[in-house]
Amino acid sequence: MSGRLVLGIETSCDETSAAVLLGEEEILGHVILSQDVHRLYGGVVPELAARAHLGVIGDVVSGALAEAGVTLAEVDAIGVTAGPGLIGALLVGVAWAKGAAFALGLPVVPVHHMEAHLFAPAVEDPRAAPPFVALLVSGGHTLLVHATEWGRYRLLGETRDDAAGEAFDKVARLLGLPYPGGPAIEALAREGDGSRHAFPRPMLRGNAAPGDADYLDFSFSGLKTAVAGEVRALAEAGRLEAERAHLAASFQEAAVDTLVGKTARAVGATGERRVLLGGGVSANGRLRERMRSRLGPGGELFHSTPRLALDNGVMVARCAAFRLGRGEVAGPELTAHASMPFPGLVEAEA
Ligand code: KG4
Ligand code: ZN
Repeated sequence: MSGRLVLGIETSCDETSAAVLLGEEEILGHVILSQDVHRLYGGVVPELAARAHLGVIGDVVSGALAEAGVTLAEVDAIGVTAGPGLIGALLVGVAWAKGAAFALGLPVVPVHHMEAHLFAPAVEDPRAAPPFVALLVSGGHTLLVHATEWGRYRLLGETRDDAAGEAFDKVARLLGLPYPGGPAIEALAREGDGSRHAFPRPMLRGNAAPGDADYLDFSFSGLKTAVAGEVRALAEAGRLEAERAHLAASFQEAAVDTLVGKTARAVGATGERRVLLGGGVSANGRLRERMRSRLGPGGELFHSTPRLALDNGVMVARCAAFRLGRGEVAGPELTAHASMPFPGLVEAEA
């Protein structure tokens, strides 16, 4: 075996996950447990998420270690998502990591959840390394980042209201689809016509110029409101059922148009034609397809398989391996943070 053995732990939202990673890309063990309880409520209930993590964290870690055929004492470090996310959920992972590390004398490496998403594609494809423009789209965040090297990032744009995944989840709810909404919308959209309903493409006006404040930012709440209005009108007319698939497809087209359009602007602004998609929404096939055709033959697109695009312990271990290499080990004061600035941000270079 060569390279360091890192245990990665993820509990920031509704997946309890642990993975054992050897070096930068050899996944020896990986367990993801998705919490079903939230389906009952149509969204993540923070208190239930924390309790569910607490009930299974020990078994999830043991499962990953058993699959890897190693004991906890044999790992070189524990990487754990310390933020951003649901505070009670994050604390379960952080407290577990600290307890285990203290008992065994292991270093703990705190990981930023969105930087972990940035690292996920590199586990499966070593070419998915900077420089690239990254579109990070999850249930809580929508970020456009220019990565010039690992650990050195420029924030190009972010959402001003809802995250992209949040928009999928809210629209799914309007259409009577289960949580999480993204996969349900994508499946229903396959049966619909995406041009049937004309929804807005927020902040994508054609006359926008690079210096404009909203040039690389996102907004999804207006799109969600537009879908809500259409749903109401169709329900009143007794036509909602017949239009559901068309609504799903038309919403997805609008959301994808916005994500692709903004990323294309970032490519133009930076001159960087390598693009990386990360976060749960990057599992969306339509987004991948439209991004690939927009970039054309001169561009390169990287993303992970859906298992590593959604929340998982592997990406945490991969990011922790990088941070560990820089000696970034936490002290006993380590705690979780619901919000946390993206690490390694630099200002634009003149
Ligand atoms: O990264 P992630 O697993 O968790 C967070 O960090 O939030 O992302 C979850 C989000 C949810 O909003 C979910 O609806 C969305 O990713 N998502 C998708 C798809 N699969 C998951 N959105 C669109 N299409 C999908 N196939
Ligand atoms: Zn995530």
